[in-house]
Amino acid sequence: MKKGIILAGGSGSRLYPATLPACKQLLPVFDKPMIYYGFSVLMLAGIRHVLIISTPADLPRFRQLLGDGGNLGMRLDYAEQAAPRGLAEAFLIGAPFIDGDPVALILGDNIFFGHGLSGRLQAQAGRNDGATVFAYGVKDPARYGVVELDPAGRPVSLVEKPANPRSNLAVTGLYFYDSQVVDIARSVRPSARGELEITDVNNTYLARGALRVERLPRGYAWLDAGTEQSLLEAANFIAAIERRQSLRIGCIEEVAWRQGWIDSAQLRRLAKTMGSSGYGQYLQELADGAAL
Ligand code: G1P
Repeated sequence: MKKGIILAGGSGSRLYPATLPACKQLLPVFDKPMIYYGFSVLMLAGIRHVLIISTPADLPRFRQLLGDGGNLGMRLDYAEQAAPRGLAEAFLIGAPFIDGDPVALILGDNIFFGHGLSGRLQAQAGRNDGATVFAYGVKDPARYGVVELDPAGRPVSLVEKPANPRSNLAVTGLYFYDSQVVDIARSVRPSARGELEITDVNNTYLARGALRVERLPRGYAWLDAGTEQSLLEAANFIAAIERRQSLRIGCIEEVAWRQGWIDSAQLRRLAKTMGSSGYGQYLQELADGAAL
């Protein structure tokens, strides 16, 4: 799989007034804009061609931040979602970009961290059949899509924000699909909340026996930063690990360099664009071979 979509839309109204000047996915989570975390996850999966979907107001800001991707040895495209009509609309908007290929989707407010994540991602990105979602045990499953598994780990049911969840397993905002996804998304009708639900897309794969569910074990962190409290908690989590280990999570320049998409000279050039920040210094140290 060579293509990925980041959906960074939504009104962000749960975070007003913080999201009045710019959308949630541009807010910092500790030392970098939120979107870097999801973006780096696609990069770790080996995906170099990415479509960023956002609101008409925010799209120019993402373009300013990330450009055409050439700096990172990548290719970035941009598309507008005119109104928050649901996650599955990403495949309708993204149909020309997808162009008959398999595709990954990540939500711009999801943060994943854990040992061996790259291997898991690459394993999924290497498949071209069916769909894969990741499940994660949470205290408050009713806020999410919830999946129920049989004893063999196969999905039995999938319900969006159920009042009475049948398990504690939330479906995270990272999805891998085969090329059927565009046609499936075209057949989805708006839900009671007026959105094209990703859960309806996943339920179509489930009905076809083509949905895989990978459980992220307890050693993983999956955070969403959708409320003021979870945003602060995510920042504290990132800060604690980064300061303890003196490494940076979600550092897109580092990932590009480790993937061999850019060389050390380019990493040094990118470091220079970061002014006197600690982030820039970290990139410089990486290029000099001084960091981990
Ligand atoms: C969306 C999906 C939900 C998923 C969640 C993950 O929820 O609809 O199935 O569990 O993302 O972040 P929303 O952000 O639309 O409430």
